[in-house]
Amino acid sequence: MEDRMISGELQETDQDIELSLRPETLKQYIGQDQTKRNLHIFIEAAKMREEPLDHALLYGPPGLGKTTLASIIANEMGVQFRTTAGPAIERAGDLAAILSSLEPGDVLFIDEIHRLPRSVEEVLYPAMEDFCLDIVVGSGPSARSMRLDLPPFTLVGATTRAGLLSAPLRDRFGVHSRLEYYETEALCSIVERTADIFHVEIDFNAAVEIARRSRGTPRIANRLFKRVRDIAQVKGESVISLETTQEALEMLQVDAEGLDYIDHKLLKGIMDGFRGGPVGLDTISATIGEESQTIEDVYEPFLLQIGFIQRTPRGRVVTPKAYAHFHREVPGT
Ligand SMILES: Nc1ncnc2c1ncn2[C@@H]1O[C@H](COP(=O)(O)OP(=O)(O)OP(=O)(O)O)[C@@H](O)[C@H]1O
Ligand SMILES: [Mg+2]
Repeated sequence: MEDRMISGELQETDQDIELSLRPETLKQYIGQDQTKRNLHIFIEAAKMREEPLDHALLYGPPGLGKTTLASIIANEMGVQFRTTAGPAIERAGDLAAILSSLEPGDVLFIDEIHRLPRSVEEVLYPAMEDFCLDIVVGSGPSARSMRLDLPPFTLVGATTRAGLLSAPLRDRFGVHSRLEYYETEALCSIVERTADIFHVEIDFNAAVEIARRSRGTPRIANRLFKRVRDIAQVKGESVISLETTQEALEMLQVDAEGLDYIDHKLLKGIMDGFRGGPVGLDTISATIGEESQTIEDVYEPFLLQIGFIQRTPRGRVVTPKAYAHFHREVPGT
């Protein structure tokens, strides 16, 4: 699958800017007010008690700021930030090695925590609950189990698929924070902040335009900003204008709602081929030549989120809102 301009997933070309754009404190972290308020209280309370923060689970779609928030937690607690990822830990011993190298109070961040192998997960339970490791030394009849104490630490887990987490693991997190898609206003502040960091001026309406087309996702806002800036620079613009922004986004084939050609293909496929549905996923898949799984996991969620598609027992339906977006009449009206 090729990289889409409006995908929330991390792409190679994002990497050079993401580190420099990452906010470092809760104050710099824009939006997600509920989550920030809660974390602020938990962090202050933990600091007063001189204890590590409770284990925290951050979940939500890609690019909303889970990794960023995890590093902010470590920063606000004044401790080291250690990172790893579910797929990187293959054996129980790998995790044991990481855990036993932690300093008291450290934040251990496990990205994609839903992808931890079950055998590794079991090592985590006593570590999270009692700060200890149960290890087996020796093998065969002489094997015996030993308990090792660990320094108290905070586990921060991130996942895009909270539903895939096992119940026992989920229950061991004291803090659960669900990150939401960002409002246009917050995204606009993110774009302005990014422009500031790049020492570039951008017209307020241009920032709003980028925000509107960013599908509620800071990573997409920053990516679009970067491309718009390049075009403004080539044009010799000292302040990025709304006109240039619209022109650039049109060139990038990102429409006013943040939809790209794949979204168009999917929606038009249902409108043209099936009078807007209802139509089954497999039929759509055969018609537009994309895999059902990809449609369901990657293409559909945002269209469902903005109410352009509905899931019904008889299949997918394109809504009047989507018809209006394409300036079309709903069939039969
Ligand atoms: N609240 C925010 N304020 C400002 N910038 C943000 C915010 N959240 C995210 N960003 C920006 O978006 C980028 C992506 O965020 P981050 O890598 O934390 O997302 P993620 O949720 O961990 O994504 P993934 O699911 O791919 O791991 C960051 O580099 C940062 O620049
Ligand atoms: Mg991340």
